[in-house]
Amino acid sequence: MKIAVVGGGSTYTPELIDGFARLDAAVTEIALIDPAADRLPIVGGFAQRILRRHGHPGRITWTTDLDTGLTGADVVIIQLRVGGQRARISDETFPLECGCVGQETTGAGGLAKALRTVPVVLDVAERARRHAAPGAWIVNFTNPTGIVTRALLDAGHRAVGLCNVAIGFQRRFAALLGVAPGEVTLDHVGLNHLTWERGVHVDGVDRLPELLSAHLEEIAGEVKLPPAILAALGAVPSYYLRYFYAHDQVVEEERGGPTRGEQVAELEGALLSMYADPTRDTKPDLLAKRGGAYYSEAAVGLIGSLRSGDGATHPVNVRNNATLPFLPDDAVIEVSCRVDADGVAPLPVRAVGPHISGLISHVSGYEELAVHAAVAGGRQRVYQALLAHPLVGQHDLAEGLTDRLLATNAAHLRWA
Ligand code: G6P
Ligand code: MN
Repeated sequence: MKIAVVGGGSTYTPELIDGFARLDAAVTEIALIDPAADRLPIVGGFAQRILRRHGHPGRITWTTDLDTGLTGADVVIIQLRVGGQRARISDETFPLECGCVGQETTGAGGLAKALRTVPVVLDVAERARRHAAPGAWIVNFTNPTGIVTRALLDAGHRAVGLCNVAIGFQRRFAALLGVAPGEVTLDHVGLNHLTWERGVHVDGVDRLPELLSAHLEEIAGEVKLPPAILAALGAVPSYYLRYFYAHDQVVEEERGGPTRGEQVAELEGALLSMYADPTRDTKPDLLAKRGGAYYSEAAVGLIGSLRSGDGATHPVNVRNNATLPFLPDDAVIEVSCRVDADGVAPLPVRAVGPHISGLISHVSGYEELAVHAAVAGGRQRVYQALLAHPLVGQHDLAEGLTDRLLATNAAHLRWA
């Protein structure tokens, strides 16, 4: 089986390779594709050493030519970042001027990222349609994952969206409960980066109430939210909900400190020099300082199930298709899904209460408009998406953010 990784020059790639090296012997080739010719041999050489260290028979290839890398691929992983960390830093700062959160996937920054990214990912997917193996799956990690996956599905691609938030909770709760991660199934519901854990099932028993009573403070600390919110919801929101539940506080903090993009740019420099060391064949501890924990395991697990059709459960981004009755069928949601020979299908979700469903609906409406704006372009569509976002909502704010978004992203928007 050949895997193509679009954005393979990422400093995250060794995490992914480590997963394949440990867990998936069926992979024969991993092709890293990236326009950054300088990074490719560094990341590619290191990736090959990781495979070899594990005695994995596969080989790593790398190329700046998209079509060459995609040729014959059975799975195409897309994990690209248009504009690099520089564009991310812009997403994290321009909304602050309007008193709004500066974040790469949430709010106006997330819309900017969607506008830059969707057309590029759709181009990649078209090339994959032509050059990858028939029936190849696209596994999309590219943020904002919900919006990008929706655009891919709208264009008729065989795509599924993946994020590491759910697997992170699964691993964490398993450790707290003293069971193996595979024994834990989450009642994970929402949209990408807007999810809640409403149940933690082990052997058919929901252990979440027990977790919340024994570890409330600790879990709340890890998602950086007041314990009272978790207690009131009877659920664990992901840390991305902080941008909603503690919006103004986050804005205050962001105004005082360096952006995450600046921190990541520094980390990346250090990581790349470690990867360049020809004697290194294990991923450095420093990589854990990035947010991608377990993303390799999520990818390897999902790809294994797509290939074998084993019917395993994976929390992924898929079409709603009546799973959440308060959303349109064509919305993309992030829930636990069964992955078998027919593809990826959401497992039934128990009724979602109004304390959560309202926010999901609100953001889902925004996401629909964000896809339209990204595909069709135009200032008016950008404004409409921002006006519909629950963290914006007011005319003056939407106007101010639209102006700033367009001014800072003109170089990346084909229509601007
Ligand atoms: C988590 C999210 C990803 C996001 C990452 C950011 O893993 O699920 O979608 O890209 O964090 O990590 P970074 O190290 O780039 O801040
Ligand atoms: Mn994510």
